[in-house]
Parts: sequence; structure tokens; C-alpha cells
Amino acid sequence: MTIVLQSDEAGVARAADLLSKGELVAFPTETVYGLGADARNDTAVAKVFDAKGRPSFNPLIIHVADRVAAERVAVIPAEAEPLLAKGWPSGLTLVLELRPEAGISPLATAGLSTVALRIPNAPLAIALLRAFSGPVAAPSANPSGKLSPTRASHVLSGLDGKIAAVLDGGATNAGLESTILGFPGPIVLREGAFAVPDDWTRGGDEGAPTAPGQLLSHYAPSGSVRLNVVQKVSGEWHLGFGEVTGDASLSPSGDLVEAAANLFAMLHEADAKGVTALAVAPVPDTGLGKAINDRLRRAAAPR
Ligand code: TXA
Ligand code: MG
Repeated sequence: MTIVLQSDEAGVARAADLLSKGELVAFPTETVYGLGADARNDTAVAKVFDAKGRPSFNPLIIHVADRVAAERVAVIPAEAEPLLAKGWPSGLTLVLELRPEAGISPLATAGLSTVALRIPNAPLAIALLRAFSGPVAAPSANPSGKLSPTRASHVLSGLDGKIAAVLDGGATNAGLESTILGFPGPIVLREGAFAVPDDWTRGGDEGAPTAPGQLLSHYAPSGSVRLNVVQKVSGEWHLGFGEVTGDASLSPSGDLVEAAANLFAMLHEADAKGVTALAVAPVPDTGLGKAINDRLRRAAAPR
């Protein structure tokens, strides 16, 4: 059962407490309702993909309360300053260089060295971000492929029982997702609530340069990757799952949320160890397993 929290102090405090316990809480921004998770908690972020039923791991937008918090997560280029001169504009997300020391879950950024960052212009969202006092990863709070929610009731109709709570702040203003800009540029990566002049460079249709496929191919492990391996051959480093123990395991108990939470960190670990031949145990192709297998197939694709 998903709890509906009122937009008062007690509701905000409860929502922040749930986030800090690694639970999912939907909350209204000025654009749409976001499905929030502690951006530093791998398991919480894995639960986001599980709840939405996303068949792939695309990077999520990270929400912070103010400029100081934004600078803890990302490097703000001088080029962005004119845009931010009067504060962070409504409905605007910037893709910026990630500060690794911010501890953002690699699952939230899909292993990228950049991060999509936004300060919502919505008092209730800001109150929640302040009470939680950390970065919150939040895609739109709808099942994958469904319309973005602009009311708490929309969130419930898609995700009731799959998330801990929804903070009810009534209808959102824009109803359209944030505009995403990339740097150097600015390049418009996604059109949205923040209106950009016609003469700005577009990065193609939504998702073209940001399409997970294109982005993630840059982050394939440096060694070769073999999938569905129960028994490794000599020279391989074996990533296990469930009964297949391996040299390290995505999840010894065969839990897909745990496996998703570990996936990017373990692929990076293999790289850091200088692994040249990676073997990966079979992962069931159900639920979150679909997104895990999608990522693994990309890692194993010829390059
Ligand atoms: O209005 C909104 O933007 C809502 C509210 C909740 O903030 N959020 C939202 O998130 O629409 P989501 O997950 O549905 O959209 C995230 C978009 C995707 O198109 C993704 O590819 C892009 O942001 N993105 C995230 N990180 C990126 C990165 N490092 N580089 C390029 N694109 C990125
Ligand atoms: Mg969406």
C-alpha cells in the first residue's frame, strides 16, 4: 500500500525519512511528479527502475534544493552562468560534469561522467529536498511508456503498491517535463517546459544524443564480455548471480534489485582490476532482469 502524505510539515518530514531509509517517494515538481530515491543509494535507485518497469537503465535527473547543493554534485561551466543569473529557471535541467566525490550512484547516471541536474521551482519539492538534505534521483513517476503524472492520483493509478509514498501537492503547473540542455553549447537535448529560442542548436529529437544505447556504448568495460556463462574458462573473471558463485556476485541470493544495484559498480571494478575477459552468469530475463540483460548485451556487443 502506498501512503498518501499531505503537503504539511509532518508529510514532508515523513517523506524525507522514507527517502533516507532507501524507500521511494513520489513528489510534485513544477513540471510533473517525480519518483524520488536517494541518489547516493544504489539499492534505492535500482528500486526506481523496478517500480517503473523500465526495460533499460537510462540515466535519471538528479534534484537538489539550491545552488550550493548543485555545486556539490556537478561542475557548473561559466557558459551556464547567464542562464542561472536570476536563479535556476523553472523546468530546466542541465547536463554537467559529475563530481565523483558527490557519491551519486553509478546506476543513477548509467555510469556516465556527466549528470543531469535540476533545481525544481516548486516550494514543496524544495521543502522535501531540504528536509532530506541530499540529492534525489527522480524520473517521472509513471510506469515505463505511460503518460507523465501531474496529480497524486495519476501517480497512484500507475504505481500504487509499488512505492512507499506519494507527497500530494495537488496539480503541477507545467505538465510537461523539463527541458534538458547539454554543454558545451548549450545544446537542446530534450525540448520541454523551459522555452528555448528557435536559433539554439538542437541535439536531434528527444533522446537522440541522450539515447541510452549511444551513451552506454561508451561505457562498456575495456575487456571482452561473454554472457550466460555458468562455467568460466581459464583467464576469465566471472561475475556470478544466484547459484553461479563467480569471482564476485551481482547477487548471491539471486535478487534482481540487488543485482541492478551492484551492476555498474561491479563492471567498473572489473575494469579497475584490469580484467581482459569478463564472463557473466545468466540473469533471468524477467522484471528488472530485462534492464540488466539489456545493459550486459551492450557491454558484450562487438566494438
Ligand atoms: O520534468 C522532468 O524532467 C521530470 C521531473 C520529475 O524532474 N523528470 C524526468 O526524468 O523527466 P526522466 O528520467 O523521465 O528523464 C531523464 C532524461 C532522459 O531523457 C535521459 O536520457 C536524460 O534525462 N539524461 C539524464 N542524465 C543524462 C546525461 N548524463 N546525459 C544526457 N542525458 C541525460
Ligand atoms: Mg518520463
